[in-house]
Amino acid sequence: MRIHVFNSAPALASALGASIARALAANPKLVLGLPTGRTPIPLYRELVRLHGAGRADFSRATTFNLDEFLGVRAADPRSYRAFMQRHLFDHVKMAPRRIHFLDGAVAPGPAVERECDRYERAIDRAGGIDLQILGLGMNGHIGFNEPARALFARTHCSRLKPATRRANAPLFGNRLDAVPREALSMGMATILHARKIVLLATGATKARCVERMISGPVTPRLPASFLQLHRHVEVWLDRPAAQKLE
Ligand code: GLP
Repeated sequence: MRIHVFNSAPALASALGASIARALAANPKLVLGLPTGRTPIPLYRELVRLHGAGRADFSRATTFNLDEFLGVRAADPRSYRAFMQRHLFDHVKMAPRRIHFLDGAVAPGPAVERECDRYERAIDRAGGIDLQILGLGMNGHIGFNEPARALFARTHCSRLKPATRRANAPLFGNRLDAVPREALSMGMATILHARKIVLLATGATKARCVERMISGPVTPRLPASFLQLHRHVEVWLDRPAAQKLE
């Protein structure tokens, strides 16, 4: 794993924004995998700024978001889809047909599996993900691949841990009972098949998890540790998140 440590979260966002703009210039049809959460917000702000300055062209790019809450419609302001609209898609010129999301409003039952299969096929049809950006859950999850005895390879319905629901409560007016108990998420293989992965972590609260992800054993108890198996992973950190590394 290649580790980059920045003096601050804004410095990280500005370097990564520039790097993504360069990748788009080299390959305008770039296929990006994107996360939600607090961590990537400064990156999205930077990408919007670069786009406004004519330095990042998304017009031929394709995106796939990692995950979505089950039972939440795309138009619902609490959906991850709405989050992405607010922070990125409303502000950059991009063909709507090239923005991909799991449909959280899918009916319970066999339609869930069909929706997950549809997403896997759409990723394949796009030629796979060139650059997957990831955040890091406090418990070591990536996407909504939660710590467990066994992980899911492919896009699936995930049961959210209490800590994960608490971390997502701000999207739901801080009402824990309003946070869905399940979500749809790319699986571990979906993520690990990306040609390049950049994991972002900022803030001291992630330091212990970052250290275990990089130096600990590969274990389903810390799904992010599986990134050690990928040949092209970069971990981009600010100083507080890097403080437990040697
Ligand atoms: C959420 C998302 C993840 C995200 C993580 C970290 O639950 N499903 O994809 O990376 O939590 O969020 P944050 O960046 O707010 O710490």
